[in-house]
Amino acid sequence: MAARYQAPKGTFDVLPAEEAARALVAEHAGRLLDAAGHGRIETPALEETEVFARGVGASTDIVSKEMFSFTDRGGRELTLRPEGTAPICRAYIEHGMHKDPQPVKLWYAGPFFRAESPQRGRYRQFNQIGAEVIGTDSPLADAELIVLLDELLRGLGIADLELRLGSLGSLETRAAYRDELRDYLREHEAELSDDVRARLDSNPMRAFDSDHEGTRAVIGAAPTMLERLEADDAEHFAAVRALLDAAGVPYRLDPTLVRGLDYYTRTVFEFSCGRLGAQSGIGGGGRYDGLIEVLGGPPTPAVGWAAGTERILMAMADAPLPQRPEVFVVCADGAAAFELALGLRRHRISAQFDLAARAFKGQMKRAGRSGARFAAILEQDGSLKLREMDSGEQREVDSAELPALVIAAREA
Ligand code: HAM
Repeated sequence: MAARYQAPKGTFDVLPAEEAARALVAEHAGRLLDAAGHGRIETPALEETEVFARGVGASTDIVSKEMFSFTDRGGRELTLRPEGTAPICRAYIEHGMHKDPQPVKLWYAGPFFRAESPQRGRYRQFNQIGAEVIGTDSPLADAELIVLLDELLRGLGIADLELRLGSLGSLETRAAYRDELRDYLREHEAELSDDVRARLDSNPMRAFDSDHEGTRAVIGAAPTMLERLEADDAEHFAAVRALLDAAGVPYRLDPTLVRGLDYYTRTVFEFSCGRLGAQSGIGGGGRYDGLIEVLGGPPTPAVGWAAGTERILMAMADAPLPQRPEVFVVCADGAAAFELALGLRRHRISAQFDLAARAFKGQMKRAGRSGARFAAILEQDGSLKLREMDSGEQREVDSAELPALVIAAREA
């Protein structure tokens, strides 16, 4: 027998029954971001590895452990994008978008790749929906984006959300704080996990992420970034908080919030959902005022977020809607069923019919299984009955009035 294959570890197929819920999420996000003035951008799945090594940071887990990188046949170092912000900044610079009216507001949706160990909610190919506002340092942009992500998630019926908010200050304050934290951690080196100790020099902030007991005790007593903010960064952060308060978006201040990417400055935030279990981070982001310059562009402040589509789907209250037709056409004559179903579709009514030419009883069973709201039963004498599947109520109707009846029933 020929070998059988499976989707690679940590990846998955999206089958037609799951597509409807995905389309709903994409449509909702697109409408919301469109209304807020974000234009959709698409960048390639492949980027030069340097974009991430420099942009996201060589010592981050993402770059040091999780990238799918390879040398192509022309000797170029390429990587399947693990995130979308660095590529968008690359595109902003490449297309001279700094010459456009600022800020430039963008959004994106698509697949991303990280070689993480797979578990529920954590995949090697996953999808993100993201939004970026490039070219302003106004706290209004931070707050507007956070409110948008809040609306995106709540609008999909996701409950049990928590928003954590922190600020990392400017790149300079952050660098000074890093040094202070490193010195502090070094004084307690013996109590730290091997992992944190190994990265004391390159990334001492990782200690905040650790679940190692000794490390947690040490970090619990460490000075926090929020206590070290410069006056203008503290003012910026206070303005963001005041705007969120005014918008009625609840949050918890988290001075230890570290995100797994090095480019953040000032505001950082993360939404988690209590329904998700271990991988509870549903969407997050922050300000990255230094990234465009790091990637060779002019100094340009920016802020953004990304949310994981699979985690959104898992957190949504209602089970994903299967693709249920509104009408299932039942008719002994396949050609007549075909004609009636196509006529309904012309009215944007989703309609199916039996392709296997089953007997009447078999077709009625198919209609029930399809989850259709109605069966349109076309008898051999040409008469037409509309049956509401749930109640079993059935009445004779005129085929010309069928589309209007189905459409009217949507509102009932
Ligand atoms: P991130 O927090 O690394 O941020 O990813 C954003 C979201 O993507 C997460 O909250 C999570 O829902 C989802 N996600 C991440 N990794 C996985 C995975 N392995 N499997 C499933 N879902 C996953 C960023 O990527 C930044 N680019 C966000 C940003 C935009 N910051 C500024 N602008």
